[in-house]
Amino acid sequence: MMSREPFVVAIDGPGGSGKGSLAFSIARALDFHLLDSGAIYRLLALKAEKLGVDLDDEDKLLELLPDFDIRFETGAELAIPYLDGEDVAQSVRLESSGDAASQVARHGRVRKGLLAVQRAFFKPPGLVADGRDMGTVVFPRARFKFFLRASVEIRAQRRYKQLINMGLSANIAHLQADMAERDERDQNRNASPLVPAEDALVVDSSLLDLDQVTELVLGHIKENG
Ligand code: C5P
Repeated sequence: MMSREPFVVAIDGPGGSGKGSLAFSIARALDFHLLDSGAIYRLLALKAEKLGVDLDDEDKLLELLPDFDIRFETGAELAIPYLDGEDVAQSVRLESSGDAASQVARHGRVRKGLLAVQRAFFKPPGLVADGRDMGTVVFPRARFKFFLRASVEIRAQRRYKQLINMGLSANIAHLQADMAERDERDQNRNASPLVPAEDALVVDSSLLDLDQVTELVLGHIKENG
């Protein structure tokens, strides 16, 4: 029997590990809310670019937070992000936005400022939170913590397919190089580096498809909930 007390399922891992699609399908299966925390960093980066704020300038980035107007609407396959009331689903997924997000995400005080924004997503009946530090920093007491891994080659291929499906152009070699660079930045930053929580279940998704990973993760939640 699953308990009725609301709980958090934290899903962390590098870009292209499949955690976004996994989080979406787990949230749907449990009928839980969904937090795509990467989208929050991407939206802040988009806002900074819109207003001409230098991504290295932590003080100026912090000044954006009081007016950081974002919301998500549930779409058929993904959540649709809005920034200042404008649908930014396309621009938020661009590689350039991911890259800008990882620059914004290096700043410890910006990360702190975004904690409350992220924690506000936790409402009954529960939350599936997808990111880099969900299990370590944002929801350290999450009932379930998963950390997805996959080789950089596989992750680049997945991202390539995603971008092509969205009608965007992409180059696998560039994607792989960008991903390796972003991993390096995310793993080696001082503020909340990308590492599995000590109590996370690490899943290598290199050889598994979405249905297989979903089954494994849901099975674990049902057995231990
Ligand atoms: O997951 P996604 O590719 O959308 O994340 C974009 C960037 O945002 C990541 O490369 C990472 O630097 C940053 N991020 C983070 N902490 C999170 C989620 C994303 O630092 N919880």
